[in-house]
Amino acid sequence: MSIRIADRVPEPPIKLMVVIGSVRPGRIGLSVALWVHEHITNRGGFEIDFVDLAELNLPMVDEHRLPKAQQYTRRHTSAWSARVEQADAFLFVSPEINSSFSPALKNALDFLFHEWSRKPVGLVSYGGRGGGAFGSAALRPVLSELELVVASGHVDIHQASSQVEDGFFLPEGEQAVRLDALLDELGALAPALRSMRESALVAG
Ligand SMILES: Cc1cc2nc3c(=O)[nH]c(=O)nc-3n(C[C@H](O)[C@H](O)[C@H](O)COP(=O)(O)O)c2cc1C
Repeated sequence: MSIRIADRVPEPPIKLMVVIGSVRPGRIGLSVALWVHEHITNRGGFEIDFVDLAELNLPMVDEHRLPKAQQYTRRHTSAWSARVEQADAFLFVSPEINSSFSPALKNALDFLFHEWSRKPVGLVSYGGRGGGAFGSAALRPVLSELELVVASGHVDIHQASSQVEDGFFLPEGEQAVRLDALLDELGALAPALRSMRESALVAG
């Protein structure tokens, strides 16, 4: 029996959490993340949860037990856990800071473990002269420790402040094309990893 397109169960939209790593007053991270947000909205196919770590305002990790135990005692940890658990994929927009990535992002990552595990993540890294590449290189081993699956495509932005005008980030060169390729990859990885997590639950 042939299956008509109309008979197919539609795929649920991919829940993509976009995280702004910088919490600094006057940050350009907000402009870069708003460009990312607008690009994803125009493209479609993703349901975005936009997380501004400055607004989330997590303290430094203050749980007694290790995240793998998931025995949270703080309301902010339980709320963060529930929000991350909902996501199918992540996109981190982080500045390069002293050849590493945003310390606020590191802290937000360190709060949890299982909620990140076996989900795909894409990186948009920006900086000054270093241009973001050292930032994403420092982030990769942390993500792998948390069992996140890092997309091979990424967007590194050199001298990002020179591309911000009146608060708007203006993409140049291949940046929009690279972002699209990264979103294609997240769009392919998210359902595959979702079904992998679901079968692990059934087998578990
Ligand atoms: C403390 C500090 C260290 C920095 N270290 C680097 C660096 O190692 N490499 C680089 O390319 N840019 C570096 N920068 C530049 C930042 O990446 C750049 O200012 C970026 O805009 C910061 O992000 P934000 O404006 O969203 O906070 C540094 C900036 C600060 C404040």
